[in-house]
Amino acid sequence: MSEYLRVLKPIVTTQHYERTKNIVKQFSAHPGPKLHQYLVDKREAEDNWAYNYWLNDMYMDIPLPLPINSNPGMVLPPRKFTTVHDVARFAARIIDGILEHKELLDSGNLPQERAASREKNQPLCMAQYYRLLGSCRRPGIEQDSQFLPDLQNKNETQHIIVCCRNQMYCVVVKADQIGKLSEDEIFSQLLYILSDAPCLPKLPPMVGLLTAEPRRLWAKDHETLLLDAQNCRNIELIEKSLILLCLDELLPPAFNARGFHGASSSAHFTGDRDETNMAHEMIHGGGSECNTANRWFDKTMQIIICNDGTWGLCYEHSTSEGIAVVLLLEQILNKIDEIPSPEENGITPQHLPPPERLEWIIRPELEKRIQQARRDVDKRIEDLDFYVYRYQAYGKNFIKSCKVSPDVYIQLALQLAYYKLYGFLVSTYESASTRRFLLGRVDCIRSASSEALEWAKAMCQGEGANVALESDKEDEENSRKVSFSIYNKEQLRELFRTAATRQTEIMVQNILGNGIDIPLLGLREASREVEGDFHELFTDECYKIANCFLLSTSQVACTTNSFMGYGPVTPRGYGCSYNPHPNEIIFCVSAFYSADITSATRYAKSLQDSLDIMRDLLEN
Ligand code: COA
Repeated sequence: MSEYLRVLKPIVTTQHYERTKNIVKQFSAHPGPKLHQYLVDKREAEDNWAYNYWLNDMYMDIPLPLPINSNPGMVLPPRKFTTVHDVARFAARIIDGILEHKELLDSGNLPQERAASREKNQPLCMAQYYRLLGSCRRPGIEQDSQFLPDLQNKNETQHIIVCCRNQMYCVVVKADQIGKLSEDEIFSQLLYILSDAPCLPKLPPMVGLLTAEPRRLWAKDHETLLLDAQNCRNIELIEKSLILLCLDELLPPAFNARGFHGASSSAHFTGDRDETNMAHEMIHGGGSECNTANRWFDKTMQIIICNDGTWGLCYEHSTSEGIAVVLLLEQILNKIDEIPSPEENGITPQHLPPPERLEWIIRPELEKRIQQARRDVDKRIEDLDFYVYRYQAYGKNFIKSCKVSPDVYIQLALQLAYYKLYGFLVSTYESASTRRFLLGRVDCIRSASSEALEWAKAMCQGEGANVALESDKEDEENSRKVSFSIYNKEQLRELFRTAATRQTEIMVQNILGNGIDIPLLGLREASREVEGDFHELFTDECYKIANCFLLSTSQVACTTNSFMGYGPVTPRGYGCSYNPHPNEIIFCVSAFYSADITSATRYAKSLQDSLDIMRDLLEN
């Protein structure tokens, strides 16, 4: 409870704070201890007492559409394709890598990962890896649910779904009679699809667009779809498929970054498109005229390969954090890069029956809903303000040389960047992995600390409205005088050290399982289960403010030149993921154009200024 109050202090008014302090006092006397005991008992009975509370709160109960609001998009290093054979060959190798990984999972030989720092070598829970292939989210009228693979059934027929020009094909990749398809066989199946889909006389119904709708609407449409047996079978095939492979078409240059002057570092182009454009493709597909219907957003892993060599992933987040997905794809990519490309001679094995194309039965009411979904998703895509920004002045090598944790340093830069724009700090989320615990997922590193606020204020001295003011309260006469507090570099460094120490403390608390968000969530749910309703602690204004993350961040470390991004989690907020490399940091900043107060490029510019002045402060 005292940590909760400490979190609130820098982000709420004194009045709100005092009110909550009283509520906390009452709660701590009653029913707090009883609810705490309820959770302790639950811990004895379950593998992970928090897991379902967390899963529902974070994903299953959230009615927002998956693209932009929930599913992250990941861009991997672009390939060079000259012909359609190159596309099919690369895709076949990815699928082959997925199948090899599936065999590894089935054999039970997936190596145990261990913590690399802070109580090093502790084993990490591997459950997320087993949920990546063959799982799917299901929409529900009240609440979503998950379709998870049967891990015991290792020998059943396996297939993938390939989407091409909004057509869906089921490609069997392993079966009793034929065993696992070879890379060449997968290649020939994909080549068939790439030549079949463009020749079809009529466009298929764009059923995939329904999966981009708000969850409760999609749940109703899902029920209507299931009224026809053929659709039931299609949906079952999609749910059970190992992955979805989306063979995409190029996005127009309108999706390129609207960057700021001096940010040439962000303009990594392939042809006419930059990295921002590629990220749009992975996050939402570019709209109904482009690839958004070439998706099934409920599917855990959608691997996307575009005809211009751009490729990446859109993944449904409820089964796993980004780290497991990144590791899987990077491993496959590294293997692919080790094998030379075969000479394509145009001859492909023909002995397999062609893949089955899925046909849908669309009732008239669903046809209308698809048209509505089309308008809705296009509008939401237009509203996404996204910017991939590479900061290239330095990376984690410089930060480590300053004897600061790179993650802590970047979090403080994010705070300073926000303060520079708005003159205050806001509730900030950073995901901290809690995989040291069985079924552990994440807790929340709350980076907007009082110490960060003091430092940010001091760093902005002399900057317009954000000038630091001090009043001398000891002397009555002096109390009316306002003096400008000009901090020298040494004082600023001291304030930085204090803020960094506090941020490190919060980070370590979280990764070792001593964060506050999971216990608070537990107490909230316990209050409902035991007392019949939420305690006032969980309905008061401060709780709302603390849980409205106007800055939602996470580190997604990749070893290749890749990055992952997502939209803001609240209409007036920012999303900001980052990937620190030795000599640069890649940021994916997002906001909504409809929020008059936010701008992805302005925030990126402020981030650049913040990182520059932090280097000036700490150099040498
Ligand atoms: N001085 C010098 N070096 C330091 C240092 C210091 N004071 N503190 C840390 N370092 C070094 C570390 O030893 C490490 O070195 P390495 O690159 O050789 O391994 C490196 O800096 C990075 O450490 P740090 O920045 O402190 O953090 P981290 O890599 O442990 O990451 C979290 C911190 C919170 C991001 C991480 O624990 C985590 O939870 N990651 C998962 C986040 C997640 O789930 N993201 C996906 C969301 S979809």
